[in-house]
Formats: sequence, C-alpha cells, structure tokens
Amino acid sequence: MATQPSSDRGVWSGKLGFVLAAAGSAIGLGNIWRFPYMASEGGGGIFVLVYLICVLAIGIPVLFAELSIGRATERNPVGAFKALAPGTLWPAVGGMGVLAGFGILAFYSVIAGWTVGYLWMALTGDFGPGVTAEQSAQMFTDLIGSPGPALLLTAFFLAVTAGVVRGGIAQGIERAAKVLMPVLLFVLIVLLVRAVTLPGGLDGVSYFLKPDLSELTPTVLVTALGQALFSMSLGMGAMITYGSYFPRDQSLPFAGTTVALADMGIALLAGLVIFPALFSAGMDPQGGPGLVFVVLPTVFANMPAGGLWAVLFFGCLAIAALTSTISLLEVVVAYFVDERGWSRNKAAISVAAACFLLAVPSALSQGASAWLTEFGWLDIQNIIWGNYGLSVGALLICLFVGFKWGPEKMLEYVELGGNRVPGRGVLAFVIRYVCPLAIATVLAFIIITGQYF
Ligand code: PFF
Repeated sequence: MATQPSSDRGVWSGKLGFVLAAAGSAIGLGNIWRFPYMASEGGGGIFVLVYLICVLAIGIPVLFAELSIGRATERNPVGAFKALAPGTLWPAVGGMGVLAGFGILAFYSVIAGWTVGYLWMALTGDFGPGVTAEQSAQMFTDLIGSPGPALLLTAFFLAVTAGVVRGGIAQGIERAAKVLMPVLLFVLIVLLVRAVTLPGGLDGVSYFLKPDLSELTPTVLVTALGQALFSMSLGMGAMITYGSYFPRDQSLPFAGTTVALADMGIALLAGLVIFPALFSAGMDPQGGPGLVFVVLPTVFANMPAGGLWAVLFFGCLAIAALTSTISLLEVVVAYFVDERGWSRNKAAISVAAACFLLAVPSALSQGASAWLTEFGWLDIQNIIWGNYGLSVGALLICLFVGFKWGPEKMLEYVELGGNRVPGRGVLAFVIRYVCPLAIATVLAFIIITGQYF
C-alpha cells in the first residue's frame, strides 16, 4: 500500500532554494573530477560533443520527467512509483535508483575523501611554486595508495554527509553552498585564464573542443550518456526527490533549465582548465581517475600565490562534493524513512556505515591492495553504477512517463504554477520516443558488440 506523503515533508523556500539545492546536487566531482577524466579516456573533443548532445537531447527531458514525477507525488522514488502505478512492478525502478545511489555513494565518497586530503595538503603548504609533474604524480600516488589515509578520509566524508542528512537538509549547507558555489566559479575562471596562457595550453583547448569523428566508438556513446546523466544527478530518482519539495505555486521550467545549464557550464570550464594544463605539462591525456589531482598542482606551481588558490580550489571542491553526497545519501535515507518507517537518524547512520563497507575495496584499489588495483575495482564501480545503472534507470523512467503515466501528465506538472512550456509537443515526443530509443540503442550496441568497458 502506498503511504500518504507526510504533511511536514517541507518545501524549498522558493525557486532559488530549489535551484541551489538541485545545482548543489548536480555540480560536484562529476563535473570537475569525472568529466575531464572521462573525456580524456573518450578521445577529447568527440566525447565532449556527444556529451553536449546527450545533455540537451536526453538530459534535460529526463530532468523534467523526474522533477514532474516528484512534483505530482511528493514522495521518494519508490513511493512515487507506488503512488502512480500501484500494484505494478514500476516501483522496482525506484528501488533500482535507491541501489544505484548507494553504489555511487560508495565510490564517490572515496574520491571526495581525496579532495579533503588535498585540502589538507594545500593548507600545509604542499602546493607552492616548483612542484613538477613527477612530484605531483608521486604525491597523488602516496595519498591514495596508503590504506590508512584513504580509508580514514572516506570514513570522514561519509560521516560528515550522514551528520548533515541526519538532521534534515541543514540550513547551514544551503547557506554555505550559496557562497561557495560562486567562489568555485570564480576560482575556476581564474584557473582557466592561467591554464590557457601556459606555454602549449592552446593545444589542450583544441584537443578538448575539436571532435575527431574517427574516434567515435560505442564506448564513447555510453560513457558520454552516462556522464550526462551522472553529472545532472539523473536516472536514480535524486531529482524525483528534489522535485517533490518544489513549491506548487512556482514556475519550474526556467528553474530546471538553469540547473542543467549551470551544470554543463561548470563541466566545460573544468575541461578548459584541465586540458590546457595537461598539454602544457606534457602529460598523457589518458589520465584516469587521478587526472585532476595530478594536473592541477602543476598549474598552482605556475601561479602567484599558487598555494592560496590551491586551498580555495580544493576547499570549494570538497563542498561541491558534499552537496552531491548529501543528495545521494538522501535518496537512500528517504526510502528507509518513508517506506520502511525507520527514523531519519537510524537510516542516515546505518546507510552510511553500510556504504563504508562497500567503499573499502574502492579505497584500497588505488595502490593499497595489489589485487584490487589490478582488478580496477573503483573504475568498475564507476562504470557499473555511474554509466550502466543510470542509463538503465533513465530508460525506464522515460518509458514510464512516455507510455504508462503519459507525457501529458508530465507537462501538467512541469507547468504547474507557471507558464506553458514552449514546444510542449516536442518535449512529449522526445520523452516518449527519442530518449528511450537513443538510450536503448546505445545499451544494445554495447551488449551486442560486447564492448563493456
Ligand atoms: N551529480 C553529481 C556530480 O556530478 O558530482 C553526482 C551525483 C549526485 C550523481 C546525485 C547522482 C546523484 F543522484
């Protein structure tokens, strides 16, 4: 039986509150750590081009599909599908989302822990002038390959996330995000200016922006789609949850689009910092998960007051990661609170503790354990949950809206409290046919060709 939404679930203070929280969820390590690393593995410009198409043609429609389901039901992802399709298997889509949230959090918190480690190193003056590419690579390997720090930092990040989620979305985090997100933007712009003016920097810009069509492979398609969904926090119900708190009397289309464009803009900015710096330092574009952490210190080393910029950058990045881990944990916690009747306190603490257990092999797979490192555990988690999990989730959400609930219903809740959406017929067509066909084709292609990773 579907439960009624409780009357004290709360709503965002307004559109701005929603935009901040949703952009806080969307903007995170996905933009600054994952996007450049995926782009480097996906052949640069071609990956960026496919990613942009995915954001505009698939990401934005799926974003509105998720937000409208949340708005219509005011429930967590499982409860939302129960309310709209009682007695069917559809709530399992919400269940998969909860599982994907758990899986993503388990590797995301490892990387988030690295940002705290780097903030600490920046504060203790490790990123002054004269840091060479080799030294930077060594610092990274030392940090992530030592089991103690890697596990401790992961545990620390999960504990802070649980602490925030336990008390509900604390005022403090929203207020902090309001100040720190603009600071992050400012720091990125300064770094961009420095990176593109480094000797050889423009080669990086052209690698990042010039697509080489011969590099287009099925793997590029699925990873770019996965990246668009991951970056926009789609395919696992985070935006169903966030849409469920959207005030009924306010207009959603502009607010939703703002979140999507802000997310895309930050990713592009991050790429325009990383690739010029990478080329200038003469490093290998096949960077892997260490890309941002290894490349950026070479930029700080070439800047006046580089140490200070390092503190600002890693401080903001840690906060951006925190506003994302909060949304990941919130989806799982909301499920246990709403559907299983757990207290918020119990749910936040036990889910975070269980997540730590799944995070342990990821944390140890970066040098600490030879076997896990060889196996590529963290990379595999990233692909399973981040690419496949979210793509399958998004496909099912599109099919649900397109054929079970109906695009008309989606439009009704997107337009609730605001103006009519321009081109509503196009949006309905896209969510019903274009998105599911595109996502299913990409997935089928991968399965048939056997190019899993
Ligand atoms: N969008 C976040 C990022 O780009 O870092 C990661 C994320 C958060 C993915 C929440 C999925 C999600 F539900």
